[in-house]
Amino acid sequence: MSVIILGIESSCDDTSAAVIKNDTILSNVIAGQKVHEEYGGVVPELASRAHQQNIIPVVDKALKDAGVRPGELDAVAFTRGPGLLGSLLVGTSFAKGMALSLGLPLIETDHLHAHVLASFIQEPGERKDVPSFPFLCLLVSGGNSQIIEVRSPLEMEIIGQTIDDAAGEAFDKCAKIMGLPYPGGPLIDKLAQEGDSKAFAFSKPRIEGFDYSFSGLKTSFLYFLRDRIKEDPDFIDKHKEDLCASLQRTIVEVLMDKLIKAAKNRGIREISLAGGVSANSGLREAVQAAGRKYKWKTYIPKLSYTTDNAAMIAMVGYHKFLKGEFASQDAAPYARQA
Ligand code: KG4
Repeated sequence: MSVIILGIESSCDDTSAAVIKNDTILSNVIAGQKVHEEYGGVVPELASRAHQQNIIPVVDKALKDAGVRPGELDAVAFTRGPGLLGSLLVGTSFAKGMALSLGLPLIETDHLHAHVLASFIQEPGERKDVPSFPFLCLLVSGGNSQIIEVRSPLEMEIIGQTIDDAAGEAFDKCAKIMGLPYPGGPLIDKLAQEGDSKAFAFSKPRIEGFDYSFSGLKTSFLYFLRDRIKEDPDFIDKHKEDLCASLQRTIVEVLMDKLIKAAKNRGIREISLAGGVSANSGLREAVQAAGRKYKWKTYIPKLSYTTDNAAMIAMVGYHKFLKGEFASQDAAPYARQA
């Protein structure tokens, strides 16, 4: 049986639509929003308006790229949350209207659940290795840092998560402190390649269990720079690369310490990465190095499936379709994970 699902994602500042046939992606269209750059972060009101402008052209392009007519779809899947409410409302309302007009089942998906299933997306004409269950997923993005034990495509347990800032936020906030533009994560990664990761030391959180905390690191970074700038106003400019490399090493070590601990505790050696921060070169190298050391099998999705995208939403849609898990027309978006 082949199942064709349209996925729609609008939880933050990317409007995306994708078409999947079973687990194989046929199209994945993403419209980013440049309008937020000058504000140093996503402005919710502007994000909603941009989604409103983008949603129809993006869905239209996703269907055309896939060579699929609306009448050939089996269901419409959408992101119900978590995310910005105004943004979610655009995708949710559009998905409902489309499903209703075509007489198709509607499928709601959780954005974080979808990030986890990104490792299962296949490209046409190739079969790549996918994680076997149970596996651990380190989900690191601008809004979340979680370690998730995944027992089946629709069954997962969060075993650790950040109690304050997410890893991506730590990158972005520290970048802002250094005067770098938003989002700072990719820029820190780039500058870190030229720097000495042992040049500076920043304090790491001491938290029990598998939870994370990044707000202390941000404060430690801020105070460190404030003191150094008093002695030398050009300190940041002179040491930008070393600062980035040292900061990145610290964030990656914090992420890896808990991941290694969780893998040992659960006796799991299948490990995947998900979320925007999994683009980070230091994190990718660290996961692969830990994989060699602890005999893990590691799975890192393609970059376009780690940042926000609708392919992963359609992937959850496929699994829910197989189980007959459909949403009702009165499903309202939620800003936070329950
Ligand atoms: O999953 P994502 O696209 O969306 C949100 O959750 O918002 O993640 C975006 C986050 C941002 O914080 C960005 O700075 C971070 O991922 N990021 C990176 C890198 N690429 C994106 N952080 C560190 N290194 C990177 N190469």
